[in-house]
Amino acid sequence: MTDQALADLTRRLPELRLLTDAGDLEHYGRDWTRRWTPAPLAIALPASVEDVQGIVRWANEYKVAVVPSGGRTGLSGGAVAAHGELVLSLERMNRVLGFDAVDRTLTVQPGIALEAVHGAAREHGLIYPVDFAARGSCSIGGNIATNAGGIRVIRYGNTREWIAGLKVVAGNGELLDLNRGLIKNSSGYDLRQLMIGSEGTLGIVVEATLRLTDPPPPSQVMLLALPDMDALMQVFALFRRKLSLQAFEFFTDVALKHVLAHGAQRAIDGEHPYYVVTEFDAPDERAHEAALAAFEQGVKQGLINDGVMAQSDAQAAALWRLREGITESLAPHKPYKNDISVRVSAVPAFLHEIQALLTREYPHIEVVWFGHIGDGNLHINVLKPVSLSDADFITQCEHVTKLLAQTLQGHGGSISAEHGIGLVKRSYLESTRSLQEIALMRGVKQVFDPNGLLNPGKMFP
Ligand code: MLT
Ligand code: ZN
Repeated sequence: MTDQALADLTRRLPELRLLTDAGDLEHYGRDWTRRWTPAPLAIALPASVEDVQGIVRWANEYKVAVVPSGGRTGLSGGAVAAHGELVLSLERMNRVLGFDAVDRTLTVQPGIALEAVHGAAREHGLIYPVDFAARGSCSIGGNIATNAGGIRVIRYGNTREWIAGLKVVAGNGELLDLNRGLIKNSSGYDLRQLMIGSEGTLGIVVEATLRLTDPPPPSQVMLLALPDMDALMQVFALFRRKLSLQAFEFFTDVALKHVLAHGAQRAIDGEHPYYVVTEFDAPDERAHEAALAAFEQGVKQGLINDGVMAQSDAQAAALWRLREGITESLAPHKPYKNDISVRVSAVPAFLHEIQALLTREYPHIEVVWFGHIGDGNLHINVLKPVSLSDADFITQCEHVTKLLAQTLQGHGGSISAEHGIGLVKRSYLESTRSLQEIALMRGVKQVFDPNGLLNPGKMFP
């Protein structure tokens, strides 16, 4: 039956590339999480919208589950295919389709890498401002599916702010053309926004029209060493008062240790428990002076131990590498990832509560803190000790995540700030969304995907 179904698929869609080799199944069946063993039925690589529609219609006839797949850099298992699903990889659909100078929009296919979008925008003297470390490998379709955030959210917001239009193939194979690039459109429910962050459970993005904007003024990058956790948000408040911030990111000495071991260069001597990388507009001498004044005030108030201001683009990149290299440097330690958020005003109290919780629950386990603290998003990566089996480690982490989720609930926070729920966080969805909300979400899923074939098992508890 399976062979016959696949043969029928290729007969219907002659342009389709279909892969069934063991190596391909393994490669396309996983994302950056390494917890599940990939076991897809096959990998379909469509070249057109019609192919995607044809695949979804075929899947409905044969009742085959479909996992939409982009750059597979996801950290929550959203693109994992471990149960005989058809992986629908959008990597062949990776072109820029058009630029409109008046609308200042770029229309792209979903498989294009974020970095290529950045490059295409720059060719027109504009920027697409969503940015993060996986820019070279992640795809815009995946960014849309998870409403990706990244390092410049305090200036530009999440992916959701930058999507002017979407073409989506829904669960019945129909093509939806949502919002068509309009800036103003008060004609009822905004289905485009519903698709953003839906993790491939409602539809498959086959085309996106992205808003572009002017490049920011010249900027400066600074690395700061801080004496304690309380200083983090105080320095944020101080710098935000004096400067126009583009990014404000933090990491701990433990994160620094890993990133240095992975080849990054130390930029500040001595031992300091917390570090901040910040980037701010610095178009003129006044902005430089304001930055120095903020720095000196921080030092005087005992909030900053030391700091370094990048003197060249190369040094700025080296400072950013200390923050952006963390994920890669931790990968060999099989980290259990937490991607949580609270309101910015709740961060100081929340930090203390979870520090107490994590110190108590992980007495002999290395916990690495870093993230986008300026927008309330913390990444807490727990590293697997060699002495623990994978299964025991996950059991322990899941127990602690339950406690963490309760603490988050107390602060009205979210169990997934920017990575998505996927498989990793679905048992904790109820800590962030009410039962009524989840029931409505299930109802929405039913409307868009009546046979439940799009990324089944993801997101819902
Ligand atoms: C990052 O901001 O570097 C990633 O989203 C976090 C992670 O790898 O946990
Ligand atoms: Zn992040």
